[in-house]
Amino acid sequence: MVASAPGKVTLFGEHAVVYGYPAIVASIDKRIYVSAELREDDKIRINAQDLRTSGVIVSISNGEIQITTDYGKTLSAIGYLNRSIELTSEYLGVRKGVSLEVRSEMPVGAGLGTSAAVSVATIAAYSTCLGYELSKDEIAKLGWEVEKSVQGIASPMDTSIATFGGVLKIWFEGSTVYRVPLKVSNELPLVVAYVEREKSTKDMVMLVRNLREKHPDLINGILEHIGKTTLEAEKALAEGNLQEVGTLMNINHGLLEALGVSSRRLNEVVYTARVAGALGSKLTGGGGGGASIALTLPDNINVLTNVLKLVTPHVFKTSIQYEGVRVTVSQ
Ligand code: PMV
Repeated sequence: MVASAPGKVTLFGEHAVVYGYPAIVASIDKRIYVSAELREDDKIRINAQDLRTSGVIVSISNGEIQITTDYGKTLSAIGYLNRSIELTSEYLGVRKGVSLEVRSEMPVGAGLGTSAAVSVATIAAYSTCLGYELSKDEIAKLGWEVEKSVQGIASPMDTSIATFGGVLKIWFEGSTVYRVPLKVSNELPLVVAYVEREKSTKDMVMLVRNLREKHPDLINGILEHIGKTTLEAEKALAEGNLQEVGTLMNINHGLLEALGVSSRRLNEVVYTARVAGALGSKLTGGGGGGASIALTLPDNINVLTNVLKLVTPHVFKTSIQYEGVRVTVSQ
């Protein structure tokens, strides 16, 4: 059994979505694949080569060599797999051992929704192995529970888009999630560029939470403005007014910066994109390093990609891919 789920870019509204404001999110043409096979015993075995981050960091200080790794990131990705199995077992009332193999077409933990894609694909693969066909609503709901339980605080945005795919306007009140599929009248030529992640999504969500507790009026005002930017962007997307979409992306990035979730390296990428002719650019996802997106006219996409490669080696073109979670039976 192989299930796959797409990664995503948040076009508008990350962080504000955690506080009930709307966000616009799109699934991309890069996926996470989880294959699952039931075992005779009750163990969970995970083979997740691609979830390993490259990170062996060698630093020399006062003549001493120090070697550290990014192993923590691998462990956190495995946390999502594990929790997905536990919650699916609880939900279905059945527990069986399973061997899982995970493959990723995109960088993990960069802000492209890989943890949600891992969770959603794992829930779909495992439940199908157990003989159940969960609805997309059920998968998205379980996926959100996994994210909340691993991260402590999470919106339903990433798990919704990994499940349903497409372009969604999304917000929630309590446990009710609202998802409106958006018609985007133009192709959206996007370039993703990412830099080393200094902080996790969880760290950044906590940072905003603490800042909001200290400065409620200011931070609530910024979050509200992000929500308004999202609503204006919805109109611009429907009209196919890419110039306006780009301007609103720039405004959104400024507001995210005011929340303190960008970083020097991320800003470097975001501003380089604008110099290289992007209509707009912003960080995407949790921030603290990680991914940015730049929107461009199709005839400028190669120039934009090449210029961004001068600032970071991690650059790729992407487009919206409408398919959400998919399960196939392997031979
Ligand atoms: O970094 P990602 O891809 O997991 O995106 C996080 C998006 C946030 O709005 C910051 C958090 C959330 O749960 O919606």
